[in-house]
Amino acid sequence: MELRHYLQFRDFSLDEYEYLFARTLWIKDKFKRYEPYQPLVDRTLAMVFEKHSTRTRVSFEAGMNQLGGSVITLMTRDTQMGRGEPLEDVARVISRMVDVIMIRTFEQSIIERFSSNSRVPVINGLTNEYHPCQIMADIFTYIEHRQSLKGKTVAWIGDSNNVCYTWLQAASIFDFKVHVSTPPGYELEAAALAGIDTAHFETFADPHEAARGADLVTTDVWTSMGFEAENDDRKRDFEDWQVDADMMRLAKPDALFMHCLPAHRGEEVAAEVIDGPQSVVWDEAENRLHVQKALIEFLLLGRTIV
Ligand code: CP
Ligand code: NVA
Repeated sequence: MELRHYLQFRDFSLDEYEYLFARTLWIKDKFKRYEPYQPLVDRTLAMVFEKHSTRTRVSFEAGMNQLGGSVITLMTRDTQMGRGEPLEDVARVISRMVDVIMIRTFEQSIIERFSSNSRVPVINGLTNEYHPCQIMADIFTYIEHRQSLKGKTVAWIGDSNNVCYTWLQAASIFDFKVHVSTPPGYELEAAALAGIDTAHFETFADPHEAARGADLVTTDVWTSMGFEAENDDRKRDFEDWQVDADMMRLAKPDALFMHCLPAHRGEEVAAEVIDGPQSVVWDEAENRLHVQKALIEFLLLGRTIV
């Protein structure tokens, strides 16, 4: 089978996402019925974490176990990587011992170097630039609630971070539009927009204008992992970029609210929104489990007949 990695959202086509979502529905249904589905007995997933995680770790570990496989979790500081072993050597060694690898790390270039030395599929569990598994779960969740994202508008309020750039990659694949509003000094970076279709996003100085008429309003922490030194400045600079009930009222009446979590109530989102009726954040978090099971199955077994 051809070796495939999942390093950024555009690594898969619309046809492949449609297949993955069909598999996700089937896998999720089996899970809800407590019916075992274990096509990956004797297969092993290694997870490498250079940053903290709750959802990514639990969803990948539970998911691989549910598929019949096993999991090894490595925190880099506990391994020889933490003592300077070259990444390329680590990739060569681990990929001779396991069947699939998930990494959460800093620069996208790290995961690219790692995957080009790996014999097995590598999955991006978040880098500074992208978080593709998150957006796969988010789009699956939107479709579960509202059937289709085609032609719709997603309002991104806040930081131009990994989750934001992944939404932008997804927009041209799923044919929706992203309204992006970031505070001055935190705008989208030209270099990071290379290859992103400008017809699928628009920037707004005023977050309320970005939210106006949106079908989905979404945000993320003001300070991502790795940028903690900027936290105090960001709290000041992002003050007007909180998704609150007034902002949600500008969106469509049936608009949904999403947040990849962890959330900071009172900062990027008001409690009344994240804990309110338009919020689907818990479905969004749960769906990480189901979409990633479909992803692992696809990378290891290819297309299977339902
Ligand atoms: N959304 C997300 O990736 O959460 P964790 O950082 O807890 O893995
Ligand atoms: N943008 C956040 C996402 C956390 C899941 C971060 O990178 O810290």
